[in-house]
Amino acid sequence: MEPTSPKESRQSTATPQGVLPEHVQENRRYWDGMADEWVAPGERHWRQEAPTWGIWSIPEFELQMLPEDMSDQDAIELGCGTGYVSNWMARRGAKCVGIDNSEKQLDTARRLAEEHDTELTLLHGNAETVPYPDASFDFAISEYGAAIWCDPYAWIPEAHRLLRPGGQLVFLASSAWATACSPLDGSEVGFQLVRSYFTTHRTDWREVEIDPGGVEFQLPASRWFRLFRDTGFEVLDFIEIQAPEDQVESKFHVPADWAKKYPSEVVWKLRKR
Ligand SMILES: C[S@@+](CC[C@H](N)C(=O)[O-])C[C@H]1O[C@@H](n2cnc3c(N)ncnc32)[C@H](O)[C@@H]1O
Repeated sequence: MEPTSPKESRQSTATPQGVLPEHVQENRRYWDGMADEWVAPGERHWRQEAPTWGIWSIPEFELQMLPEDMSDQDAIELGCGTGYVSNWMARRGAKCVGIDNSEKQLDTARRLAEEHDTELTLLHGNAETVPYPDASFDFAISEYGAAIWCDPYAWIPEAHRLLRPGGQLVFLASSAWATACSPLDGSEVGFQLVRSYFTTHRTDWREVEIDPGGVEFQLPASRWFRLFRDTGFEVLDFIEIQAPEDQVESKFHVPADWAKKYPSEVVWKLRKR
């Protein structure tokens, strides 16, 4: 059953109808298979008082991803995983929907929401086609969810459709620099440009030697800008994240030394015109 508005659907679970695109099917298989590894990080993030973001745990006061007061805001997290970002928004007063493609990730999110006594609406489905009417939300966010696992030409217009005029979309993703420096065997990001910057739209990681699986998306900066403009978003901010000076360990195939010299992650903040 599909909810018709955020307020009607508290505590509901829904799966959008229809055949899933091939990359969404692959990413569902991939994330269901990996969900166990994300339980402990999810638990840790749920316990955090203050949000931190991305692979380098950059504090909220530096990135300002979330409005301080979200009372009376309808918010949606696109690719919510274990749901900790939704929890942070709920703590700021938002009525939150989290949609995720992996039922296993949502199992963890549901358990943690119950343990922390947080009211969230958690939906199983594809963030490229969300079962809510136009203009249902004031705020949409993704941290490494739809932001990298959904096709930007599908999920950016979908986020725009879901937002009310003046509503904001904020997302954090890996940078096009990191993608261009990511060897296609799945090994660490390196100091050489090993892939064409202009042809990184879709990367299929199924056949790689190291950590195979999943289909990811990326665009060169100029195409992100064009997509936002053509969709009807105004760019409020674009942040290139630098790894902290005291960081020494690699994170998720990104060496700290690399990420101190080049942006491994970016944040986009957009407003629906
Ligand atoms: C890295 S997690 C993001 C959640 C959290 N912020 C984090 O970093 O752990 C990626 C999530 O995106 C979800 N995902 C992948 N493709 C999706 C899609 N098409 N629609 C919704 N969620 C999707 C995966 O199932 C996974 O739970």
